[in-house]
Amino acid sequence: MNISRFFMRKKHKEDKSVSSHAAIKYKGKILNEKTPFAVAEAFKTLRTNLLYTTNSEKCPVFGVVSSYQNTGKSLISANLAVAFSMMNKRALLIDADMRKPVQHRCFSMRHEYGLSELLSGQCTIDQAVTSAEQYPNLSIILAGNIPPNPQELLAYEQTKRIFAQLRERFDVIIVDLPPAGVVADAMAISTLVTGYVFVVRSGESDAPTVNETINNMKQMNCTILGLVLNGYDIKSDNYYRDRKYGRYYYYYRREQSPDNTSRD
Ligand SMILES: Nc1ncnc2c1ncn2[C@@H]1O[C@H](COP(=O)(O)OP(=O)(O)OP(=O)(O)O)[C@@H](O)[C@H]1O
Ligand SMILES: [Mg+2]
Repeated sequence: MNISRFFMRKKHKEDKSVSSHAAIKYKGKILNEKTPFAVAEAFKTLRTNLLYTTNSEKCPVFGVVSSYQNTGKSLISANLAVAFSMMNKRALLIDADMRKPVQHRCFSMRHEYGLSELLSGQCTIDQAVTSAEQYPNLSIILAGNIPPNPQELLAYEQTKRIFAQLRERFDVIIVDLPPAGVVADAMAISTLVTGYVFVVRSGESDAPTVNETINNMKQMNCTILGLVLNGYDIKSDNYYRDRKYGRYYYYYRREQSPDNTSRD
């Protein structure tokens, strides 16, 4: 299928109107019992597809990137981590966007220490890891105080050792990263991740820029496991409405019936 129709035609310019993360609301967008069936199902499918790419690795590490800002990386990282935790995996979500951290907003939490303190040797793993109240199998390392040198921190030799120790403690690690087309932080941990999930926001990303970022990442030996199209209005697409959405609707009806229980 030709996916170019998902991209906008003109070169993407950063949307200045959405610059204040303080104004952005994440509340209610993390998987919960009220999440629409199709959304929950999409994250379960992504979870399953990613597991197929890992060759039964003990603790796969998935980095979530995009070309530009505001594609939904943080929201997708959080939901993917929740989706893994729901299948009884000990999931760790790391907010590695130490420039514009948001995971503390997604989960409405505060913690004294975060990734910047952990990588700079100011705290231990035990002190940095916190847990999300509502999600029993989910642990989180927030970004911590914004450091002057995020990329250097991620590239430190000791970061390898810390990731190796984290891999011993968890079943899966999701790393929320800054946009790879804007800063090189995501590439700095290419040897520490199993691979990257590349997020494209429907109608807001342009194909040449996405291709350029993907090519740059490949040149730096980054493994891109797949592409997530975020925010696509599936109901407006005849192709999906006829072939796929109808099928999801069918399952939705079955899942919502009173004598049915949730799969997770
Ligand atoms: N599919 C979606 N439907 C509705 N809102 C969404 C969707 N995906 C993301 N958003 C919203 O878009 C905004 C940006 O999302 P998010 O912070 O996850 O993007 P990001 O790619 O991590 O941004 P940044 O590059 O600044 O880190 C948030 O307000 C988020 O709630
Ligand atoms: Mg983000």
